Amino acid sequence: MSRSSAPAPAAIEARGWGWRHASRLRPAVEKLDLRIHPGERVLLLGPSGAGKSTLLHALAGVHGGDDEGEEYGELMVDGVAPSAARGRAGLVLQDPDSQVILARVGDDVAFGCENLGVPRDEIWPRVRRALADVGLELPLEHPSSALSGGQKQRLALAGAIAMRPGLLLLDEPTANLDPDGVREVRDAVGRVLERTRATLVVVEHRVDVWVDLVERVVVLGRDGRLIADGTPGVVLVEQRRELLDAGVWVPGVPLPGAVAFDVTGQATAATESGSAGRSAIEHALTARGLAIGRRANAVVQRGLELDVAAGASTVITGPNGVGKSTLALTAGGLLRPLEGRVEASAALASGLKREPIAWRSRELLTRIGTVFQEPEHQFVASTVEGELAVGLRALRLDDVAIAARVHELLERLRLDHLARANPFTLSGGEKRRLSVAAVLATRPSVLILDEPTFGQDRSTWIELTALLRELVDDGLALVSVTHDAAFIARLGDERIVLAASTAREFA
Ligand SMILES: Nc1ncnc2c1ncn2[C@@H]1O[C@H](COP(=O)(O)OP(=O)(O)OP(=O)(O)O)[C@@H](O)[C@H]1O
Ligand SMILES: [Mg+2]
Repeated sequence: MSRSSAPAPAAIEARGWGWRHASRLRPAVEKLDLRIHPGERVLLLGPSGAGKSTLLHALAGVHGGDDEGEEYGELMVDGVAPSAARGRAGLVLQDPDSQVILARVGDDVAFGCENLGVPRDEIWPRVRRALADVGLELPLEHPSSALSGGQKQRLALAGAIAMRPGLLLLDEPTANLDPDGVREVRDAVGRVLERTRATLVVVEHRVDVWVDLVERVVVLGRDGRLIADGTPGVVLVEQRRELLDAGVWVPGVPLPGAVAFDVTGQATAATESGSAGRSAIEHALTARGLAIGRRANAVVQRGLELDVAAGASTVITGPNGVGKSTLALTAGGLLRPLEGRVEASAALASGLKREPIAWRSRELLTRIGTVFQEPEHQFVASTVEGELAVGLRALRLDDVAIAARVHELLERLRLDHLARANPFTLSGGEKRRLSVAAVLATRPSVLILDEPTFGQDRSTWIELTALLRELVDDGLALVSVTHDAAFIARLGDERIVLAASTAREFA
């Protein structure tokens, strides 16, 4: 093994460290004292907005200078400031889309190595190895834009691994993956660590996946201060109460309402309908013989049928890359079907043409609201409260009514303390909640959500699913694309399982 393939694992030390983002009054992370030894494997937990990503970014040395924020105390990687330890840390960002840089898969994985000045003849073997490690064995020329969300996550991981970092920093690396993908990525990380002995800090809300691979759990509380640090056994068992109070997921603790679920999704991966007992309901949207795809010559699925009922919640599940988001966009009237048609009920169309694809965006507002997989693609305002008001202004509601609805949503989705913040500066989980709140504002009859619970801690998850359940019981037709087994257990009244076999043309 060449020297470069086994870099020395990195040591981390924080002494009274903190960081305040420039546009915020309070520090995101405060008074952190932490020592992580070379080769240690740490799971970093904490509620949404606790400062987990902020800490990872600091360790990777990607926080900017004084104009981006204020730093307190000291943070060191191998005894020096992270910015001086270039190439020591490999960071996989929370939003996989934001780090796909180059047009072809191979070039994208090679990018970090090239930046570090790795000799050219060493780069390509590293790239192939990294792609195999993450289970993404595509041709090097494969277009990176054609990857699904989950595939992009594996691509980003491959890029970090190829740099052979002494410190691997992973920010929710499995959040959008199907259950097979989750295991693949976890196992890939395990294999890489076996070989390199690199230090690991991984952030993930759902603990189960990583608990066997890590030896230490570090928890940040809502105010960005350390609230627990120790072995998984001690922290997750003995400090269970503190963790639950802070909103953190703790394995084995049932959700209120006691819905049993299996994190692998196995217990809930059936196609049965759970809506027994509901009265016969009107279908808000129907489709027959539907073929979907983002381009005319690239059919992802064909022969689909869709019956979206008012007063029921439908979940769309299936492996990464199978066309779930494409189906969501098509059902939402944002993408033209390649064959067949999506038809709205007469009541939903209320005077308009029956096909949602023919509606203008203002006509969609009260009829069908769609939240994309990547929330940032939808933000248009400069503040959180402004974002929530955009649709309401388009509907010409008066200021009092707008203020009331905005206020209600801010509270329900725990965004009230962020009312004046810029949407683009929110944490991953906060962005997700804002994007859901923004479509809820105009009270559409049909709501289509792509990965609605992405990045949510236990408390915000419970609040979000309770709100959705209430709206459905009030008559909303809800359609959600999800990999979240707990969500399926709670909101899977109807289930559409897209199969991989029909998606070959896409992969
Ligand atoms: N670039 C930024 N500018 C201003 N504030 C920011 C920025 N990035 C994050 N914040 C704020 O700092 C706090 C911590 O955010 P951070 O992204 O570190 O949280 P997190 O623990 O990773 O949350 P999540 O689980 O939702 O991803 C939040 O209040 C967030 O709104
Ligand atoms: Mg984060």
